[in-house]
Amino acid sequence: MSGLSNEVRYVSITLRSAQENLGFDVQQTLTAPIKSLPCKYFYDQRGMALFEQICSLPEYYLTRVETAILKNRAAQIIERCPTDLSLVELGSGSSTKIRFLIEACLARQQELAYYAIDISPGGLENGLRQLLQEYPQLRVVGLVGEFADGLSYLSTHAGQPRLVAFLGSTVGNFAEDEIARFFTMLRQELRPEDRLLLGVDLLKAPVVLEAAYDDSQGITAQFNLNILARLNRELSADFDLAAFRHRAVLNRERSRIEMHLVSVRDQRVRIGDLGLNIDFRQGESIHTENCYKYSPARMESLLADHGFHVLCRFTDPHDQFCLFLVS
Ligand code: AVJ
Repeated sequence: MSGLSNEVRYVSITLRSAQENLGFDVQQTLTAPIKSLPCKYFYDQRGMALFEQICSLPEYYLTRVETAILKNRAAQIIERCPTDLSLVELGSGSSTKIRFLIEACLARQQELAYYAIDISPGGLENGLRQLLQEYPQLRVVGLVGEFADGLSYLSTHAGQPRLVAFLGSTVGNFAEDEIARFFTMLRQELRPEDRLLLGVDLLKAPVVLEAAYDDSQGITAQFNLNILARLNRELSADFDLAAFRHRAVLNRERSRIEMHLVSVRDQRVRIGDLGLNIDFRQGESIHTENCYKYSPARMESLLADHGFHVLCRFTDPHDQFCLFLVS
């Protein structure tokens, strides 16, 4: 088998933002009048494992539907990109979905570079090693850190035209002002020949949406509560996980699923490393995540507002999920 020699095929780089400022962020968000936690802190090792379980839950249609679209459409997607392409993925997790795009690329070019950016080092490394074994023509660069950091690293590397994949409806975690900042940054980093492939969960019946975030096996509840276990471990906090309840609810005015951790009683929590006591009233919540849902038209207009042009939309037969190929 021809292919690249092993030494040059795998590079892993830890970016500055990987040394996250958990303590500072928690101090800010838990002492505010309305308590919240940044959802990026879900993804410690246990959180990654729980998220992988979520992705195969019967109620969590997102991963299944998006994977099916990718599988069916990868060739058409790549056809609409320039030749001699590199792949970039934002929030690559364990790099399972990207393989459809990798295969479509390798059907028309000899070698391929794949840049995977993720906040969680464990899943990233395992996924990349797996891909290297399967595809001898592949070279991978793992970038551990935040999207902004990863993209600015890539602006000085990755010379070829790039397809930037941002899948899984992770863009749904952004509020409108964060989307504006994110699209502005992407717009600055991308060149005219580059493409963006954006995976977006679509608005649908409330019961379907709420079930996807409140599954019958309680895995999403464990995923949500795990953020408190992380604060206990990493910041010497004493959250009683049995004293908070998982709540997922559709906010219709804002077109988003909200995840909360609701205090079941009046209680005081100590966060040792921050020298902080935090009081909760019974029924008070910590807002842990927003997952915005879009109509295709709404997302297209947001993209257009930031100078992006939609080349093609790919959806499933039930219009549950949409992939936008954008230039
Ligand atoms: C990884 C942000 C796309 O919003 O569906 C899954 C995270 N939270 N279940 C999503 C999540 C609860 C997921 N994203």
